[in-house]
Amino acid sequence: MADKPLRSQRSYGKLDRDGFIHRSWIKGTGLPDHVFDGRPIIGICNTWSELVTCQFHLRDLAEYVKRGVWEAGGVPIEFPAMSLPETQMRPTAMLFRNLLAMEVEESIRANPIDGVVLLGGCDKTTPGQLMGAASVDLPTMVVSSGPMLNGKWHGRDIGSGTDVWRFSEAVRAGEMTLKDFLSAEASMSRSHGTCNTMGTASTMASLMEALGVCLPNNAALPGVDSRRKTLAHLTGNRIVELVRKDVRLSQILTREAFENAILMHAAIGGSTNAVVHLLALAGRVGVPLTLEDFDRLGREVPLLVDLMPSGRFLMEDFCYAGGCPAVAKQLGELFRRDAVTVAGLTQGEIADAAEVWNAEVIGSPDHPIGPASGVWVLRGNLCPGGAILKPSAASPELLTHRGRAVVFEDIEDYHARIDSPDLEVDATSVLVLKGCGPRGYPGMPEVGNMALPPKLLREGVRDMVRISDARMSGTAYGTVVLHVSPESEAGGPLALVRSGDEIALDGPARTLELLMDEAELAQRRSAWEASRQPSRFDRGWYRLYIDTVLQADQGADLDFLVGKSSADVTRESH
Ligand code: FES
Repeated sequence: MADKPLRSQRSYGKLDRDGFIHRSWIKGTGLPDHVFDGRPIIGICNTWSELVTCQFHLRDLAEYVKRGVWEAGGVPIEFPAMSLPETQMRPTAMLFRNLLAMEVEESIRANPIDGVVLLGGCDKTTPGQLMGAASVDLPTMVVSSGPMLNGKWHGRDIGSGTDVWRFSEAVRAGEMTLKDFLSAEASMSRSHGTCNTMGTASTMASLMEALGVCLPNNAALPGVDSRRKTLAHLTGNRIVELVRKDVRLSQILTREAFENAILMHAAIGGSTNAVVHLLALAGRVGVPLTLEDFDRLGREVPLLVDLMPSGRFLMEDFCYAGGCPAVAKQLGELFRRDAVTVAGLTQGEIADAAEVWNAEVIGSPDHPIGPASGVWVLRGNLCPGGAILKPSAASPELLTHRGRAVVFEDIEDYHARIDSPDLEVDATSVLVLKGCGPRGYPGMPEVGNMALPPKLLREGVRDMVRISDARMSGTAYGTVVLHVSPESEAGGPLALVRSGDEIALDGPARTLELLMDEAELAQRRSAWEASRQPSRFDRGWYRLYIDTVLQADQGADLDFLVGKSSADVTRESH
């Protein structure tokens, strides 16, 4: 029996007509009388789908969570949530992150559930599910899909996404045949699980450990590793205990937990997408968090993990080297060791129990993999709301750069002209892409790492400064300024840039400037306002999203979703 009256008893514990209805219809799934005697009802929110290899195995994994829940005296009930396959959805899975969050929030809140286990993995599922759950604030735990096995091709390891970008550039430069290119497809993704690089999915799974909302080693255990099933089982055990002790998500997702997430993000050289997701999550639980927190906290942290896209290894190697607990150990006193986790241990206790098994994969403060590599937050007249840059993925010589803009008004304009031999561009140019922010695309796609013009690739150019209001894949690299805020569609200065304008990036000084006087900018703004067209999206989710989405520096959540709805049980349905 539970220590305190459970939320689910407001439905299943009633000995009247309403209780009859709640119990009778769910008994149709085969549940016996005794499960309604006050045992915790654990919702297993599953984003399983055949559309996404990243979550293809989650129905299987859910069975292990259920074992653990039954064993601990709870009652598991699995329910679906949309799957958000990163590589399949158009125009971008990010357009639907907030929709998933709404679905999860209302599914939990509307049903007789006392605690939740979130099963997800692909990039937007982890933040979307956790954002929704955070707004309800029940005891909650995360079990991630786990990464794919290392890609193996032509005798070497290849990484999800990262080697797609590399190979694609090699084909465009005439250095790789199309036959070889296509032969790598099956070799790159050779098991279910999430991308095997430290892309967005692995980054978010790692941040789940740093936030303390999952059991240790959740991030790195491969999707096919039997120990992931054990972790799922133990999560089932643990969530029942959390319900009995009424340990809610808001007790875990503290300011300290977010600081740990930022520190871990810097140490692993994590995906830039995590910035948007953490800001949105913090907004749900009311923890003050700003872009500057990423830059300030990240400055203290050397790169401790040698994983693609910034480094050499893949997630399987990271697992065998010790995973996130080993990184936390190496962070030492920087890590907020007193932060509590759903495991019932503090972060310090988890770190103390960890070991680094391969110093090539996980470095130390004395022998780091690279210099401080947290996200840089840029300010200036081109990005008054901020923009970000991942220095570990950039070319050091381009981090301070001045060049003439080559502007693309939208992604179609970019595709139409980038391959043209007549494009007026050289290695010092700055590629500028507009119309790819939350409202503009809509959904803020991962197109910020624009492929370079073939004529420059053939000359041996491998990186250029690129600026946009888009995101980029966590598996990508380059000197890429992202998340320019406000976006061009919202009237940010990015909308006013024209080809030939001079732009100055000073990464170490954290500035991004359009070298133009205020009078010229004002005149361009008037012309831009006069030429605005009404949005072509006039119905459904697109309409709601465009009308209410916040800018990237606020996490791109919908304005009316910030904060909590609570776990209150609402009025009866009959
Ligand atoms: Fe799902 Fe990369 S496509 S994790």
